[in-house]
Amino acid sequence: MKISKWIARLLLFVASVVIAITISPFRFFYSPVVSELGYSYTVSSAAESPVQFPNNYKQQFVHYVTVDCPTSGIVRQMYIDRPSLESLKANETFPSGAVIVMETHSAKQGSDNRLIPTQLNNLFVREKRRGWNVAASGEWQSAWYSPSGSLVSGNQTSCIGCHTQVRDRDYLFTLPALQAAAKTGQTQHQQTEFSTSVCR
Ligand code: HEC
Repeated sequence: MKISKWIARLLLFVASVVIAITISPFRFFYSPVVSELGYSYTVSSAAESPVQFPNNYKQQFVHYVTVDCPTSGIVRQMYIDRPSLESLKANETFPSGAVIVMETHSAKQGSDNRLIPTQLNNLFVREKRRGWNVAASGEWQSAWYSPSGSLVSGNQTSCIGCHTQVRDRDYLFTLPALQAAAKTGQTQHQQTEFSTSVCR
């Protein structure tokens, strides 16, 4: 008698947990839509992008600029492949095969008004190839990777929507910093020139 009472209570408990989970708003956390940079992306399950993740960028690329975004407490560190940076010494725009990686980090306030990165959050990659004619993006294609190098989204729409504002800089916000780094051989440091809402 006692045992069947316990079983009945257990079943009631399990049933109420199942009902609670079903109606709970927490299930929306499993929705495959991620909001980033003020836009919504559907996470690409096919994991497809023409822009490959440059595995060796930390060793082989040049860190050309650090951009602090003080309002949002984010630091962005940009890297470019060495041959493309070299070619900027003599040319105005980039050769086919140029690859730029932007790391976004959470950060804390450091001394002399600079931010200190505390955690790597995202990797944004843009690559230029002759023959890649992308509407409103010149020959640049974009991809968003996680810190471990897995593709988060190959969706170009939002990247293009924003980067097209700087079409006169070959679609790169930090072209002036790239040119300065090519000329001086020094990593540049600056605060974002643009709306802080895009700094994630
Ligand atoms: C709402 C605007 C916005 C969107 C959307 C956006 N970016 Fe950017 N991106 C910027 C800004 C602004 C910078 C320069 C950093 C700064 O000054 O804060 C930048 C810089 C970059 C850089 C470094 C080269 C450069 O242009 O300076 C890469 C690479 C990059 N973005 C990739 C991406 C990718 C990939 C996406 C889409 C997944 C994307 N961005 C979406 C605004 C945007």
